[in-house]
Amino acid sequence: MEAFEAEIKKEETGRLTYVKVPFDARACFSIPKGTIYVAGRINEVEYRGKLLSRGKGEYILVLNKALQKALGFNGEQMQVEITMDLEREGEKKSGDKIETLGSSMDVITAIKSRKSIRKFTAKAIDDKMLNTLLTAGLQAPSAKNKRPCHIVVVKDKTMLAALASYNPNARMLADAACAMIVCGDRNVEGMKEFLYADCAAVSQNILLCAHGLGLGAVWCGVVMNSDWKKRIAKELKFPVKVEPISVIALGYPNESKEEEDRWDVGKIHFDRW
Ligand SMILES: Cc1cc2nc3c(=O)[nH]c(=O)nc-3n(C[C@H](O)[C@H](O)[C@H](O)COP(=O)(O)O)c2cc1C
Repeated sequence: MEAFEAEIKKEETGRLTYVKVPFDARACFSIPKGTIYVAGRINEVEYRGKLLSRGKGEYILVLNKALQKALGFNGEQMQVEITMDLEREGEKKSGDKIETLGSSMDVITAIKSRKSIRKFTAKAIDDKMLNTLLTAGLQAPSAKNKRPCHIVVVKDKTMLAALASYNPNARMLADAACAMIVCGDRNVEGMKEFLYADCAAVSQNILLCAHGLGLGAVWCGVVMNSDWKKRIAKELKFPVKVEPISVIALGYPNESKEEEDRWDVGKIHFDRW
């Protein structure tokens, strides 16, 4: 963890309010490439965000309106004390190679034969499989490649049972080996349409990957402003402006489902509706 003093500054255009990081964050945090997500405290206020590069090893931390308000920043010069670390310890290993599995199922067969599985055996999913599922999720496309989605893996049986008990449409979570909660970070993607679309792409990648690995999975929708949504965010300690968008129950299948042909010529339009 780094600790330093800095001055909150407003860009001349007035668009950005930021503090300058007084060290080369990429070198300091050993992040060879990609976005650097940081967290810590400014004075006594907790923050999390990503660093913007200004070139030549210079980085700034942009302060959003909510953070400025919490700090009592009124646009005048303000000196603050900052602690800064990577948002998650695991991120120090971003450059490491993660071991994943392959599948002999081709992609078209996977798409056509995937079905929602809601009954699971008691068998646990091993780490290699979990890593493969997570890799598939994170590999999804996103608007402007902003990658605003996070995945919370829940393996704790008590928590799975609690999540199941709050939503009758997600009862299968109680018997799942784990759940993957796909969340969207509104700090990173401000447009809801894109945030939800990005999380949907992550979710579908996970479903297809699970099927390809011989696992069963079902997507449970999280309704905006629902009690379930609030409870998930509260129980799993989500930061402000991070929303659960889908919950995927995963496990070894304890039911089999027939492939369903959904070809519908009435839904296909060429060149015009
Ligand atoms: C956005 C979304 C929300 C869903 N929510 C639930 C849910 O809460 N509970 C559930 O059992 N299935 C849920 N499903 C799964 C659908 O019921 C399922 O995909 C649909 O019936 C088609 O069946 P299939 O997945 O086997 O093709 C959801 C699917 C999507 C895409």
